Amino acid sequence: MEKIFSGIQPSGTLTLGNYLGAIQQFVELQNDYECFFCIVDEHAITVPQERLKLRQNIRSLAALYLASGIDPEKATLFIQSEVPAHTQLGWMLQSISYVGELERMTQYKDKSEGKDAVSSALLTYPSLMAADILLYNTNVVPVGDDQKQHLELTRNLAQRFNNRFNEIFTIPEIRIPKVGARIMSLQDPTKKMSKSDTNEKGYISMLDEPKKIEKKIKSAVTDSEGIVKFDKENKPGVSNLLTIYSSCTGESIEALEAKYEGKGYGDFKQGVADAVISVLKPIQDRYAALIDSKKLDEILDQGAEKASFTANKTVAKAKKAMGLGRVK
Ligand code: TYM
Repeated sequence: MEKIFSGIQPSGTLTLGNYLGAIQQFVELQNDYECFFCIVDEHAITVPQERLKLRQNIRSLAALYLASGIDPEKATLFIQSEVPAHTQLGWMLQSISYVGELERMTQYKDKSEGKDAVSSALLTYPSLMAADILLYNTNVVPVGDDQKQHLELTRNLAQRFNNRFNEIFTIPEIRIPKVGARIMSLQDPTKKMSKSDTNEKGYISMLDEPKKIEKKIKSAVTDSEGIVKFDKENKPGVSNLLTIYSSCTGESIEALEAKYEGKGYGDFKQGVADAVISVLKPIQDRYAALIDSKKLDEILDQGAEKASFTANKTVAKAKKAMGLGRVK
């Protein structure tokens, strides 16, 4: 069976963008692939984190994965820092990563811009991400559009390692959803929706109450034309809402345009809000039942054990290929 790996950072409550760009596809894919889904807490500490908040976010993300429909009988769900193989292979891959190629990553440029002190881990972040993926002989990596560049680098590092040492890594393919790969901010639809946005009205958190979701969508930036039509260039706000609507209901953008022909933005926004709430509300109910449960800990324990089994084998191969340690 082909393998899938993907990860999400526990750096704040997930947004609707994370759900539509990533988790929603994970839930479908778990039926057809052997899947590893990870809470990448070691990636989160590349920028300062508050200890207790981080702990809370890790647990909350685990509960959200499950509440969204990740089935621990089908997929392996685990926390990155509980599987030491990630940092082990991450270090080995750093040794074949070039500073120049890491500095070219747009995420690094964005996150380091204007800061006096930037951690070296923020720069080497993509080498750790490559390790995450390559440890599991991953064939496919489902992600949103913003991870394309990191995936390209992962493929380059895998090829470089294979050429230089031994053919041990599978070269992974990226998988981006057709609709929903880049959900934009509700307040500035030229920027992606992000949990680190300082304006709370710009994003919908997966745990926002229905009333709040409705309020945020109603105050989303649109335009003065009053026509519900997909035109990313000239109508980025309306196009973003159409994308959200379509991703939540499965209805095509064309069908939605036809449905709202001759109607104003008021009706349209109500439709978007209802669609989002009908997706998130059941997830929130399941989340509430999971967050303090013992079951959640059991699932994460089992996940770490299962992930370590595969990951340790890859680390052993990589060490041998590079000549680390002793012959055993
Ligand atoms: P992160 O935590 O920023 O985001 C998790 C996933 O959500 C997607 N995403 C979006 N999709 C659509 N619209 C948006 N506005 C939006 N915002 C985020 C992201 O593309 C991602 O799929 N580097 C990764 C985490 C990572 C990883 C990995 C991913 C670490 N190791 C290995 C895949 C494989 C990140 O920061 O994602």
